[in-house]
Amino acid sequence: MPGKRKTPEQVATMRRAGRVVALMHEAVREAAVPGALLSDLDVVARDVLERSGATSNFLGYHGYPAVLCASPNDTVLHGVPNGTRLQEGDLLSVDCGAVIDGWHGDAAFSMVVGGDAANPEAAALIHTVEAALAAGIAALHHGGRVGDVAKAVTRVARGAGCDVVKHYVGHGIGRQMHELPDVPNLWPFDGPNPRVRAGMCVAVEPIITAGRARVATEVDGWTVKTLDGSLSAHAEHSVHISEDGPVILTLP
Ligand code: MF3
Ligand code: CO
Repeated sequence: MPGKRKTPEQVATMRRAGRVVALMHEAVREAAVPGALLSDLDVVARDVLERSGATSNFLGYHGYPAVLCASPNDTVLHGVPNGTRLQEGDLLSVDCGAVIDGWHGDAAFSMVVGGDAANPEAAALIHTVEAALAAGIAALHHGGRVGDVAKAVTRVARGAGCDVVKHYVGHGIGRQMHELPDVPNLWPFDGPNPRVRAGMCVAVEPIITAGRARVATEVDGWTVKTLDGSLSAHAEHSVHISEDGPVILTLP
């Protein structure tokens, strides 16, 4: 069953959870300097959760051991924040979430460690994934279909010469981090293409690669990497589809 239409009160609580996620992003972005450990970033994000009176929806999810995913370079998704040391020019994707009063927020961003000038190729890929996310969000409206997001994301990514990861998709969000409907990024796709209705909340999350978007999961059961070793970037917001159009919930 698709995630139910949210009431204004419920959306307001999701907005509070979304603000905490945005604060986690700000703190992690600041901490992600050359020489920092990925595990340091998890500590920073935990601090924000604690100070905000929020809990993590990542920690313990299918046994996941951290409050964020830190995915450098050819890691596509679900990088476990371990003792890896960040280097200048690394492309780092960070994904995290927060729960307030049982309502979820989920968002991701990508950055170049040490600043865009340290890796122009990575910066361009990040620019493209951010544009794809913006286009995907803009495509959400009452009476549309989730496939409108896939069309918009794929057009932007392909237009910049990038490939779109097929297997990992956006999702409904609310009382659970992952609700129906799936929100695909790659167009065309197999599977359901349900209507978008006012009151729905979804996480839009394009993941794109500079090379081929074929991916594999490492033996740790989490880390997903590109098969060709090419760079990957991820950007995500949780979004409420209001009568007047999409409203991003995961902003400061
Ligand atoms: N938040 C991710 C998503 O964007 C899922 C994270 S799974 C976890 O849907 F296990 F790493 F928490
Ligand atoms: Co998500």
